[in-house]
Amino acid sequence: MTQAARKTAVITGITGQDGSYLADLLLEQGYKVVGVVRRLSTPNTERIAHLEGKVELAQGDLLDQSSFTEIFAKHKPDEIYNLAAQSFVPTSFGQPLLTGEVTGLGVARVLEAMRLTCPKARFYQASSSEMYGKVVETPQRETTRFHPRSPYAVAKAYGHYITLNYRESYDMYACSGILFNHESPRRGIEFVTRKITDAVAKIKLGLAKELRLGNLEARRDWGCAGDYVRAMWLMLQQDEAEDFVVGTGETHSVREFVELAFGHVGLDWKRHVIVDPAFYRPAEVDLLLSDPSHAKNKLGWVPEVGFENLVKMMVDADVERLTGKSPIRRAA
Ligand code: NAP
Ligand code: GDD
Repeated sequence: MTQAARKTAVITGITGQDGSYLADLLLEQGYKVVGVVRRLSTPNTERIAHLEGKVELAQGDLLDQSSFTEIFAKHKPDEIYNLAAQSFVPTSFGQPLLTGEVTGLGVARVLEAMRLTCPKARFYQASSSEMYGKVVETPQRETTRFHPRSPYAVAKAYGHYITLNYRESYDMYACSGILFNHESPRRGIEFVTRKITDAVAKIKLGLAKELRLGNLEARRDWGCAGDYVRAMWLMLQQDEAEDFVVGTGETHSVREFVELAFGHVGLDWKRHVIVDPAFYRPAEVDLLLSDPSHAKNKLGWVPEVGFENLVKMMVDADVERLTGKSPIRRAA
């Protein structure tokens, strides 16, 4: 990309898993990247430490619309990726109002700031397969009705529809990716995949003995975050804004993930895993399975990392993090 054609992208949630991978991708594509970070007493930039000096950081909070009005007026972005959210489902049961403010109304604040300052920009909203909740059809596609099962999913449904509403009301290029679960070595430690791979590494290295989990029978369509940020970018390069389901088209249980992760380092999971009802949820999402054919046909998007390689890659990365070296051949 030439200097004259260089695009500017604003990423909310740049300190999160997806924000950090998206920043990597956009920098590779030659974008100027502005990342929105909230003010914390201790900076939380571990996931983007490798991008120091390459991305510009601006302070903003989804609870505060004026921060976005100012950031957009200053940087005049071509693309805005709204990835920031209170994204952990159990926390949303404990903090439903905060989750509604941040994950739901926060989307309207960003859209409204965009409408007032840069209505010609392109907007991506991080919608979620969690909105399908108690699924009414399988696999889930763009037309599948939502039945959210957590305050998080209810807030995401608001974010999804307010994005559609701004597209229809103001002719703005605003779209949502309905992304199924995606993981990586940068995944937050409380999400089940990373909780498992971190524990497997610790148990293998003699640093822990057991792993307490909740519902082992829940099924998810798990992909790799690096693949999914590519889909986000593709969604903003189309002639018209449209919503897309993004997933692998495969579903696996938490139990299968556990078996593979422990098996990868030669451990028998049954000797270490304890089912603890403390990790059950008030309402569970039992099964998620995507039909990603629209993304494949229209965007040419297909995931590159499969389930088995994802699990092994995450276990290897946690072993490497704890030892400073990987004793196991990297699988992906
Ligand atoms: P994540 O790791 O939890 O990152 C969330 C980001 O949001 C962090 O940068 C966090 O900042 C920021 N944030 C939280 N509250 C904020 C506030 N009030 N103002 C400004 N920023 C705030 O999430 P992720 O896995 O990268 O997911 C990215 C987005 O996709 C989220 O919206 C999530 O709900 C959605 N999504 C994720 C998946 C998935 O499987 N990963 C699937 C579907 C949809 P701090 O670092 O300061 O906490
Ligand atoms: N976190 C966690 N911890 N989950 C557990 C545990 C445990 O100890 N034991 C079993 N699970 C089950 C949960 O009950 C759930 O059915 C499944 O593992 C996945 O849980 P999470 O990894 O916390 O992810 P999630 O599916 O609730 O939500 C993630 O995916 C959504 C997309 O569908 C998050 O990234 C959301 O932000 C995202 O929208």
